[in-house]
Amino acid sequence: MSGGPRPEDLDRVALRALDEVSSGMRLGLGTGRAAEAFIRRLGERVRAGLEVIGVPTSERSDALAREVGVPVATLADVDALHVAFDGADEVAPDLSLLKGLGGAHLRERVVAAEAARFVILVTPEKLVGRLGERAPVPVELASFALPTAQRRLLAIPGVAGVARRCRSGSSEPYVTDNGNPILDVSIAPTDEAHALDAAIRGVPGVIDTGFFLGMAHLVLVGDPGSVRELRAP
Ligand code: A5P
Repeated sequence: MSGGPRPEDLDRVALRALDEVSSGMRLGLGTGRAAEAFIRRLGERVRAGLEVIGVPTSERSDALAREVGVPVATLADVDALHVAFDGADEVAPDLSLLKGLGGAHLRERVVAAEAARFVILVTPEKLVGRLGERAPVPVELASFALPTAQRRLLAIPGVAGVARRCRSGSSEPYVTDNGNPILDVSIAPTDEAHALDAAIRGVPGVIDTGFFLGMAHLVLVGDPGSVRELRAP
C-alpha cells in the first residue's frame, strides 16, 4: 500500500471513533480501508459485550461485519441510525467531502442520510484546500446513459476529463453493488462544489455523485501518533 494510509494510523483513528459509540446504538458502516479498520475494532467490542446493530454500505463491509461478529441489518429492518462511520477521499476545510473511490458512495449517502451524526475517518493526506485537488468525482449512472452522459459531463465548465472506471488491475468495467457503471470525472479544484454537483446531477442518467456537502459532523484525522478532531463550522 505504498503511498496509502498507514494501517497503524487508521487503527488509531478507528479506536478514537469507538468513543462515539455506546450500547444500544444503530450504526451505519461505511466502505473502504478506514471504515474496515473501524468495523474490525467494533467487532472486538461487540465480542466483549457491546450491543449495536450495523447497516453496511457495501457487500464487502457486510461480509466483514459478519466475519468479526457485528450484527447487521438493512434500512428495511431498523429505524433511524444514531451514527454513520465512513472514510473519505478528500476533506475540505468546511468538512465538505469527496467520496466514492471505493465505488460505494450511493449506498454510503443513503445510509448517512438516515444517521443523526456522520463521522468521517481519514489520514492527513486526505485534507485538501479545495475539493478536486487529489481525487476525481465518481459518478454512478445508468449504463444505458453511458455514451450521452460522458459527452454531457465533458461539456460542463470545470470538468477536465471523464473516464469509465475499470476494476482494479483489469480492463474490465467496474460495476457497483447496485449493478451500475461509474464515470470518474476529473475537475479543476473548486470552491463551487454545490454548483458543480448540481450540474453533474442534471445530466440525464446520473444517479449519484461523490460530493458529500454539508453532511459530515466530525472528521477524525489519524495523524502519526495522535488523532485530530475537525468539527463542522
Ligand atoms: C467508498 O466508496 C468510498 O467513499 C470510501 O469511503 C473512500 O474511498 C475512502 O476509502 P479509504 O478509507 O479506503 O481511503
